[in-house]
Amino acid sequence: MRAVAYSVRSFEEISLRNANKDKHAITYIPDALGPETLKDAEGMDAVIVFTNDDVSAPVIEKLAGMGVKYITTRSVGTDHFDKRAAEKYQIQLSNVPAYSPQAIAEHAVALAFALNRQLITSDHHSHHFDFRNDELIGFNFSGKTVGLIGLGNTGLAVARIFNGLGCHVIGYDLYFPEEAPAITAVNLETLLATADIISLHLPLTQTTKYLINQKSISQMKKGVMLINTSRGALVNTVDVLEGVESGKIGYLGLDVYEHEKGLFFEDHQQDAVKDDLLLRLMAQKNVLVTPHQAYLTREALQEIADQTIKNLDSFS
Ligand code: COI
Repeated sequence: MRAVAYSVRSFEEISLRNANKDKHAITYIPDALGPETLKDAEGMDAVIVFTNDDVSAPVIEKLAGMGVKYITTRSVGTDHFDKRAAEKYQIQLSNVPAYSPQAIAEHAVALAFALNRQLITSDHHSHHFDFRNDELIGFNFSGKTVGLIGLGNTGLAVARIFNGLGCHVIGYDLYFPEEAPAITAVNLETLLATADIISLHLPLTQTTKYLINQKSISQMKKGVMLINTSRGALVNTVDVLEGVESGKIGYLGLDVYEHEKGLFFEDHQQDAVKDDLLLRLMAQKNVLVTPHQAYLTREALQEIADQTIKNLDSFS
């Protein structure tokens, strides 16, 4: 099958080439899919995309007009797909249903640890030969209540890690898994009101958008730690910034950002004008932002590549 893979970084191309073994004729390009890069899909059967590619209705319509029959994403999340448009133009869609949930889980926990022990600040101080302990006081995770919203593969992997740290793990999901590790099922209100640490592990849909907003933040404990490694728009970023500024949110760890499209995964150091909301967030010392890298382990990269090629095989 002839396919074009968009938004491919060199480190990802290696895994994709390893998985493909020249089975499919794949063109790898670093640019994101969008109106300006559609020409690269000319003559292709399939298009392979990443999370921040533009897979909106107008783009899908154009792809269909060019004869593209299939779009597969190198991610679990499918919120970037306009599924209705794909159905209308008879383009089949697929994703990577699961890959190393531990990769994302470990990053979520890494954010929690780094925030708690202020590792970024203390490393910065140490590099300047400032070895004082003042203002570096953290807390024991052991004994704390961790609230997980979303109990899919990743949520469960996070639960196992926090269980191992001696935390009391509570969880909320529309479908509570039958075989969950030690997680107490609670409703959302109880989770918001009792968790010391809240971590989000659910997909972005019209229902989950802005799940974390002014109202839900007001229901949380003062000084709560909030971690988001799922999708930026699960949280209303303006409300969350207010929550941090008021001290209601004591720690904020974001691997995803509501307005990350066209920003994350790229070098924007030289931009004259930078995203003001993100600048304001990052100016807070109890906020840690990473560039959507939670998935980024060698194991996960290969699993994503293997499943992507399997998706093309299945479509063939
Ligand atoms: C997903 O799998 O949905 C992610 O967000 C990670 C992706 C960037 C590979």
